[in-house]
Amino acid sequence: MRKKCRLMPALLGALTLLSVLGCTEADDKPVNVSYSEDIHPILLSRCVMCHSSENNNGGVNLESYSGIFSSISMDSGDGIVLPGDPHNSLLYDVISTDDLSRRMPLGGSELKQDDQDLIYVWIQEGAVEN
Ligand code: HEC
Repeated sequence: MRKKCRLMPALLGALTLLSVLGCTEADDKPVNVSYSEDIHPILLSRCVMCHSSENNNGGVNLESYSGIFSSISMDSGDGIVLPGDPHNSLLYDVISTDDLSRRMPLGGSELKQDDQDLIYVWIQEGAVEN
């Protein structure tokens, strides 16, 4: 009995620590991501030279919101952004993959982790034109 009573505060302490750590990690992810203020500038500076209406490699046009949603994956035939589902969205897949033969920007340095996170959360939050 006495042993159990001593264990409880220790357990509670560990749980509190875990939840605090959990919160800190969650707080690192951006929230309320804006297409026009966050996403469009990333695509403009890193992608549009190869993915515009004039130069749409792989049939992908990233210069506008409507361009994104008229672009289709060559493999699956799905849109490149599935709102709410970043893990199955080609747009997030190609910037986060370790496969250098597929990773975008093709032949360039990978997007900063912060920018990858912004794109992830934007899709997760529904990929709206905000
Ligand atoms: C240097 C040129 C270049 C840059 C910069 C570039 N891409 Fe690409 N991208 C390509 C080419 C070429 C293809 C077609 C690849 C193929 O045929 O396999 C492609 C294909 C794609 C596809 C479709 C892949 C598929 O399987 O259908 C997506 C999505 C994509 N790029 C997203 C991006 C994003 C997002 C960025 C910016 C972070 C970017 N690209 C930057 C050249 C580029």
